Amino acid sequence: MNIGVLGAGQLGRMLALAGYPLANRFTFLDTTGHPSAGIGDVIVYTDRHHLLDDFLARVDLVTYEFEHLPVSLVQAIEEHKPVYPSSEAIRVCQNRAEEKALFDRLGIPTPAYRLVEHADELEAAARELGCPVVAKSVTEGYDGKGQAVIRDPAEAAEAWRVIGHPQLIVEAFVDFVREVSIIAVRGRDGQVVFYPMAENVHVDGILRYSLAPMPDLDDAVQQTADEYIRALLDALDYVGVLTLELFQTRDGGLLANEMAPRVHNSGHWSIDGAVTSQFENHLRAIQGLPLGDTAARMPSCMVNVIGQEGDSAAILGIADAHLHRYDKSERPRRKLAHVNLLAPSHAALLEKVRACAALLPDAPPPRFSFE
Ligand SMILES: Nc1ncnc2c1ncn2[C@@H]1O[C@H](COP(=O)(O)OP(=O)(O)O)[C@@H](O)[C@H]1O
Ligand SMILES: [Mg+2]
Repeated sequence: MNIGVLGAGQLGRMLALAGYPLANRFTFLDTTGHPSAGIGDVIVYTDRHHLLDDFLARVDLVTYEFEHLPVSLVQAIEEHKPVYPSSEAIRVCQNRAEEKALFDRLGIPTPAYRLVEHADELEAAARELGCPVVAKSVTEGYDGKGQAVIRDPAEAAEAWRVIGHPQLIVEAFVDFVREVSIIAVRGRDGQVVFYPMAENVHVDGILRYSLAPMPDLDDAVQQTADEYIRALLDALDYVGVLTLELFQTRDGGLLANEMAPRVHNSGHWSIDGAVTSQFENHLRAIQGLPLGDTAARMPSCMVNVIGQEGDSAAILGIADAHLHRYDKSERPRRKLAHVNLLAPSHAALLEKVRACAALLPDAPPPRFSFE
């Protein structure tokens, strides 16, 4: 089976690493001009039609690791090869307005929000919702890019200028207890399996730590998250891995933040920490194979390596530390690698996380809600 992947970054690289034992081959179609997968065959797509024909001729089915793609490109591919998840999933998940509309339709609670297309509308929305609010470009944002926190309506004009996008979504700022995510996988036959939820620590809009299973995970909370993501999977007739990011509030409730139609950074712990990784399960799902067990082997924490590589040898000196490097060059805010740490208890795990963070020059101190 030759799998075509739209996008050629580290997520594609890790999909390929999970697929080689299944005798999968990989052809990546990069639309950014900066592929970093460093594995499989990479076609840098530059609107020259024969390149798309080459790609289609090589692959049996197509998936993606990056959702900021023209929907028309995915639709064109869908006319020739099966695409999982479908172009409809990518259309909804690449646009925050579409995503929120689907959450609303399915009764999944979200922070209060408004859509605006002008600086004056942004200011009015900030007044109506009550500051602070978060303004986000409706498309293209990631890792906190294309966003601004507005603390006073008078800051709206400046925020509008800095973001520089024709349509923004403005959300009430959530005073959350913690950020969490749920990852689920739906097979071609509609079967769904759920990973244990992760607690995610973001600093400046970028993920730094994901810990799963959360030590104080209430069954009712996991069940609610499972219901929300199942509703999304079914509504989109989805095949593959879907991720839903949520805020947990003081009363234990969950508010949906955003979703990603792909394997996700908050699921990287599953490579070493779960019976079946999110990458293997995505490949199983899209090929119509039985889904693997999602249970955690042990409490696990993923530590992102961002900007600078740090002392890799020292990191590997930590017991049960697994370093996954992406073979990219150092640059501020760039995701270069992650470390998966495993320990039999959450207390022992936290000690390893602190030891690992101390070996990474840019890492903020790890702080979890349950400490
Ligand atoms: N409404 C909000 N209230 C509080 N914090 C928010 C809100 N929206 C986003 N954030 C913070 O910014 C981070 C990035 O925002 P997100 O919408 O997930 O965009 P991205 O696509 O960049 O991940 C979130 O993980 C969270 O820490
Ligand atoms: Mg996010």
